[in-house]
Amino acid sequence: MTITVNGNSYSFDGDPRTSLLDFLRTDCGLTGTKKGCDHGQCGACTVLVNGQRINSCLTLAAMHDTDDGGDAITTVEGLGDPASLSDLQAAFVKHDAYQCGYCTPGQICSATALIEEAKAGWPSFVSEDMENPGNTLSDDEIRERMSGNLCRCGAYANILAAIREVAG
Ligand code: FES
Repeated sequence: MTITVNGNSYSFDGDPRTSLLDFLRTDCGLTGTKKGCDHGQCGACTVLVNGQRINSCLTLAAMHDTDDGGDAITTVEGLGDPASLSDLQAAFVKHDAYQCGYCTPGQICSATALIEEAKAGWPSFVSEDMENPGNTLSDDEIRERMSGNLCRCGAYANILAAIREVAG
């Protein structure tokens, strides 16, 4: 089968139990996506599938056959490169939003999806306990919706500042 990652096609004929995370790192050589817990608890492995964020350790590569559903995978490498950073990548650099950097690719992928979700006016952004009628992300919403991405260094304040800048 073929799996599309960052606009490129990769063939996959390995063990059907291979996680998308292992496929990306081992078969595609895209090591930006990190393995932390390998159990869906840390968010280090977050990638985008058709623009939606998922933990790549919790899904099988074989479930993303391009010819069987047309999934498009985007990793942190697909969001920008050193010569042309995405707005979020540049904001993370500007705000020093990392220490060891291990969680950063997952944080950036997750925040990329978060900002797109907010722009799309996803109804769930308007909730009773969050006064946010205009679908503008509040700091509390950013914290809540990034809570699946852990940072053991504790760079949360700067991560929030970076996302805040791009979210507007
Ligand atoms: Fe996937 Fe931790 S490695 S959530």
